Amino acid sequence: MGPPGAGKGTQAKRLVEAFGMAHLSSGDIFRAERASGSALGEKLAGYMDAGELVPDELVVEIMAKAVQDNDGPTGLMLDGFPRTVAQAEALDEQLASAKRPLDAVVVIRASDAVVVERITGRRSCPECGKLYHMTFMPPADDSVCDDCGVALTQREDDTEDVVRQRLAAYRQQTEPVVDYYRRRGEAELIEIDGDKAPDDVSQDITAALNNLPLGR
Ligand code: AP5
Repeated sequence: MGPPGAGKGTQAKRLVEAFGMAHLSSGDIFRAERASGSALGEKLAGYMDAGELVPDELVVEIMAKAVQDNDGPTGLMLDGFPRTVAQAEALDEQLASAKRPLDAVVVIRASDAVVVERITGRRSCPECGKLYHMTFMPPADDSVCDDCGVALTQREDDTEDVVRQRLAAYRQQTEPVVDYYRRRGEAELIEIDGDKAPDDVSQDITAALNNLPLGR
């Protein structure tokens, strides 16, 4: 969990390699649906481009299926889901009926100024999904992917105005999810300073996860 631009996607990609888990990003799943040109994708785009959360009933249906389809022996890293208390309750029910534990909730904190700078400088590869930042993690050659050689793209919702909306949605609807997990006390709640450099953030998360009996 964490505000837009805190580094959830960047860190999730590193951690799944280190821990050998599957990675499920709700934002990536929704963007793939949009790219398919479906009516559902068009509906999702309306919310995403306005910086609003997609309504719970849509999110829970899509993510419950994604979790079920990826429920392998290596475990799952969820990125961007759940983001409301209703979504967290639905996930708890699904995990309880599948007898799967939730080991940890990692919250990456980042200040608003950092977030806005990161989001407006973000680019990604349309082929492999690799993330770049034009200042902090630039590609070697101007604006093409180091691995695929194709032109990098910018997300529709990565403008400053939309980022401010996304931050407001995070504060109002997603911060209460952190308290929800704190109160329940079943999963380890790990809070990380995301303003640090990417390698330092990875180290902090890895050290915290290495202290846990994952997959109890
Ligand atoms: P989603 O795709 O999840 O976007 P987000 O939460 O706004 O997060 P971002 O992907 O923008 O940022 P990130 O934290 O992954 O940062 P990143 O690693 O890329 O969701 C998009 C939309 O879909 C939502 O607004 C909503 O409409 C909808 N949605 C999704 N899930 C939903 C749900 N469950 N319920 C309802 N609606 C939902 O890093 C950002 C940039 O910074 C990159 O350029 C990166 O290279 C750079 N960077 C990363 N870490 C560092 C660092 N430590 N130092 C310097 N630069 C860094």
